Amino acid sequence: MNIIKTLAVVAGLATALTSFATAQEGSVVGFSQIGSESGWRAAETSVTKQQAEERGIELKFADAQQKQENQIKAIRGFIARDVDAIPVAPVVATGWEDVLTEAKEAEIPVILLDRGVDAPEDLYLTSVASDQVKEGRVAGEWLVEAVGTEPCKVVELQGTVGSTPAINRKQGFEEAIAGHDNITIARSQTGDFTRAKGKEVMEGFIKAENGGADICAVYAHNDDMAVGAIRAIKDAGLKPGTDIKVVSIDAVPDIFAAMVAGEANATVELTPNMAGPAFDALAAYLKDGTEPEKFIITESKLYTPEDNPQGEYDTRKGLGY
Ligand code: AHR
Repeated sequence: MNIIKTLAVVAGLATALTSFATAQEGSVVGFSQIGSESGWRAAETSVTKQQAEERGIELKFADAQQKQENQIKAIRGFIARDVDAIPVAPVVATGWEDVLTEAKEAEIPVILLDRGVDAPEDLYLTSVASDQVKEGRVAGEWLVEAVGTEPCKVVELQGTVGSTPAINRKQGFEEAIAGHDNITIARSQTGDFTRAKGKEVMEGFIKAENGGADICAVYAHNDDMAVGAIRAIKDAGLKPGTDIKVVSIDAVPDIFAAMVAGEANATVELTPNMAGPAFDALAAYLKDGTEPEKFIITESKLYTPEDNPQGEYDTRKGLGY
């Protein structure tokens, strides 16, 4: 290729990249967030705001305080303002069809972030989320490996009732322990993804299970509930991580701090950066109508105390957490 041709190709590429990056510059996006129930959720909110700012997107933010009715109201408000797109983290799986149909009729693309919905797939542009069944399976497989053939009574702290992570993480964990008859789920209750509720429910489990002596492990659907459970275990005079194993999901800095202290055994990472892939997909769609993959799946990596928890804590602290 001669020099003129090379320059032309480079210039063309640069123009293409610029127009891709700026396809959404100046666009207005309405983000319906669930609330701030966990450290992970707070991180997702700040990463989304950063991602929007870097791309020149004007982000309208609505915190639903854990209520679906608030999310529906916010989405209707965004439709009335004729925003360019609506990312939504849906608190529960059901009850979205009407409002998503309204967005579709208004030709406003909806992007699901971190949780799914029970609604026809043509009502949203794409869904950026982890494979939540896999997350539960990874947590369960870790426990199967950790206990070997020893009998193990597990207590489970479920996420928000009716949310896809609560449903799927339960299913994945149960799949992993199926066939290992030494492992049983003795008790299972929602802790609503919060630290306070995780502690309260764990206190009840400990009381009901011989002061905690009969519990071998706690499986929490997120790290915040695990951190609450660790507090309850310590208050009962037991050692979390040793007397009662602790396995959870999210990989937030506080669970790495607990690992450093020997009080947590395993976590499965959920990236708080759902907005990056979502805005990339949106940019391509706004530019020339490119349809993204319907499901953009993020990674689910297992971390244990062997994986440099102090380093993980240091890296994550300040990354929006
Ligand atoms: O939907 C993702 C889950 O919601 C996170 O695991 C949890 O921390 C959160 O609140």
